[in-house]
Amino acid sequence: MSGPPFVGRAIPRLDGVEKVTGRARYVDDLVLPGMWFGRTVRSRSPHARLVALRRDPGFDWSGAVFVDASDIPGENVVALIEDDQPALASGEIRHVAEPLALVAAPSPEAADAAARAVEAVEEALPAVFRVEEALDGRVRLHGEDNVFKRIEVKKGDIEAALARAEVVVEGEYASGPQEQLYIEPQGMIAGSRPDGGIVVRGSMQCPYYVHRALTRLFALPDEKVVVVQTVTGGGFGGKEEYPSMIAAHAALLARKAGRPVKVVYDRHEDLVATTKRHPSRTRHRTALTRDGELLGMDIDVTLDGGAYVTLSPVVLSRAVLHAAGAYRCENVRIRGRVVATNHPPHGAFRGFGAPQTLFALELHVTRIARELGIDPIELRRRWALREGDSTATGQVLRWSVAAREVLDAAVERFRSRPSPPPRPPRRRGVGVSLFLHGAGFTGSGEERLKGRAAVEALDGTFRVCAASTEIGQGTATIFSQIAADALGVGLEEVSLEEPDTSLVPDSGPTVASRTCMVVGSVVARAARDLREALLRYAEERALPREDLRAVASARFREQGPLRVEHVYESPAGVRFDEGTYTGDAYPVFGWGCNVAEVDVDPDTGEVEVTRFVAAIDAGKAIHPTLVAGQVEGGAVQGIGWGTIEEITFDRGRLLQDRLATAIIPTSLDVPPIETVLVEKPYPHGPFGAKGIGELPIDGPAPAVASAVADAIGTIVPEIPLTPERVLRALEASRP
Ligand code: MOS
Repeated sequence: MSGPPFVGRAIPRLDGVEKVTGRARYVDDLVLPGMWFGRTVRSRSPHARLVALRRDPGFDWSGAVFVDASDIPGENVVALIEDDQPALASGEIRHVAEPLALVAAPSPEAADAAARAVEAVEEALPAVFRVEEALDGRVRLHGEDNVFKRIEVKKGDIEAALARAEVVVEGEYASGPQEQLYIEPQGMIAGSRPDGGIVVRGSMQCPYYVHRALTRLFALPDEKVVVVQTVTGGGFGGKEEYPSMIAAHAALLARKAGRPVKVVYDRHEDLVATTKRHPSRTRHRTALTRDGELLGMDIDVTLDGGAYVTLSPVVLSRAVLHAAGAYRCENVRIRGRVVATNHPPHGAFRGFGAPQTLFALELHVTRIARELGIDPIELRRRWALREGDSTATGQVLRWSVAAREVLDAAVERFRSRPSPPPRPPRRRGVGVSLFLHGAGFTGSGEERLKGRAAVEALDGTFRVCAASTEIGQGTATIFSQIAADALGVGLEEVSLEEPDTSLVPDSGPTVASRTCMVVGSVVARAARDLREALLRYAEERALPREDLRAVASARFREQGPLRVEHVYESPAGVRFDEGTYTGDAYPVFGWGCNVAEVDVDPDTGEVEVTRFVAAIDAGKAIHPTLVAGQVEGGAVQGIGWGTIEEITFDRGRLLQDRLATAIIPTSLDVPPIETVLVEKPYPHGPFGAKGIGELPIDGPAPAVASAVADAIGTIVPEIPLTPERVLRALEASRP
């Protein structure tokens, strides 16, 4: 590796060799002495009273342990937001595959047998699966009305805008659940510590979320719980909240068995038990002049939250805050609610509500362009937010607004080469989406979170201490690049501390596109201050300043390690009012534009995406290949959600519960993703960088759906765009 600067260069990723050679050790590769294997006994009913858990007296229980809710020493909750989800159900069952009891035994086979020897006696209660039914309140799951959370955003006077509109365009759009389908299923190993505490290692995004959940469940002080992230094979949000559940289970078993216990899900269990993206329904009423001036937007979004609150209120928040998209509009009303049903809890998935509302908005803008007879690119260019404009929450955009840049870049790339004509009878269509994504926690979230990170000078080397996890997206590589350049040292001199809660400070969770921009900025500031401190030391000792390594060595030998730890600080003047939902929802937004070209077979209803361009504004690409990787992955994931990834429940039971049916696109199902990187620096990001994790998944589904509308002459308002839905829309549109 040649010398600095490292930021902006596609250096080999630091975790790459281990992973491609198979040397990386995932949780299921780890074997601890005396370790047993844990299994989960799950509910069959979507809503029931748990009458009894019967253990087969014919089974030899001397070689196994059994755990139910009565074994929980602290509070029986998976601590998160409202703490309504039990680690093990007792009394009431609220969804299929809910954990009821646990068993562990010396071998996986013996554990399976023990699990089969437990019978749950369930007495069925009326269940509710459709949001409309949940809202009528006949089945009570949460509060008076089964609404977990309501949020309203208001700007200007929407009623007046609708009243004076020359044209009002209405539309309703729906999206289905989506499975994260990380390569590595969820898993944890728990053991006990000599001090009576517990240690858990496993696959996760957020070590400190798991830490907090375990301290509550076991009623232990912080220092007696240690959580360590093992090499993790993908998360996409799916390992944001659920790992707390498995960690709780593994730890309960380990405590009762008096030995380490491993709980690793197979794919079937992972599919039925863990969270999916919230299904959504969004209504739009848009006030316009005949020539396409945007007067007002009235938006109403409803999410199915599933059986427990989990992360639903914050998913709704992000959904609402992205619902008016990348457009300038003086009169906006956005009403959102997330509703309890007897589906397994829906949870975090890359984008976190924003892909749902941006799908609805962008397909609606396509509808508006069609109805007004205005070019859809031109319409978006006219409406696109610029610096100085304000968003629906009244946030004045002070910096790094690249809506027009990404739009122009994507369109230019798309038009730079002609596409071969479609094979008859297929029909060709082109669609565009323009979108934004707020990076970091919403509103005052980062202020409350106070994410910390540290950089240490050791004997001639430097170490970054952060709880942000490498989940395949490149944390290890970019943190090393950022620290090396901020210190002014070589990449070989920088290492990363293990994400172990006893060794690293709480940087906050690895979610919300915050790792690079938020935690990365703390790493950069800590590294710069460490450099300054070492340079002051060099001055005092009259050492040469040029070689920071030598300075660090001298300082280390004299006084030991030097550590600089910082806490995240929002840029000055960033304020959000949670009561009125006004102000700076995010310190900055990333911007994106997709152009999709599709061929639709009018006889079969099949949709093939034939070209896909993604222009994405990263502020500054710390690592261009990793950014392109995020864009390509997000594009494919978004195209999959929009076209082939059908996830359905039958009376609360997941139907696509095997990889044979829970399908995602392969390289044969998508064209090469043509990525254009735009860099509009964010003054408060590390080296100008913004968050890039979620943005790329916000635009693909509406771009593809818009292209399908262009191809067949009518809008299909519900994704995924299965052949059945496309054919139905075609038939309905026939005169
Ligand atoms: Mo995420 S969906 O912010 O892990």
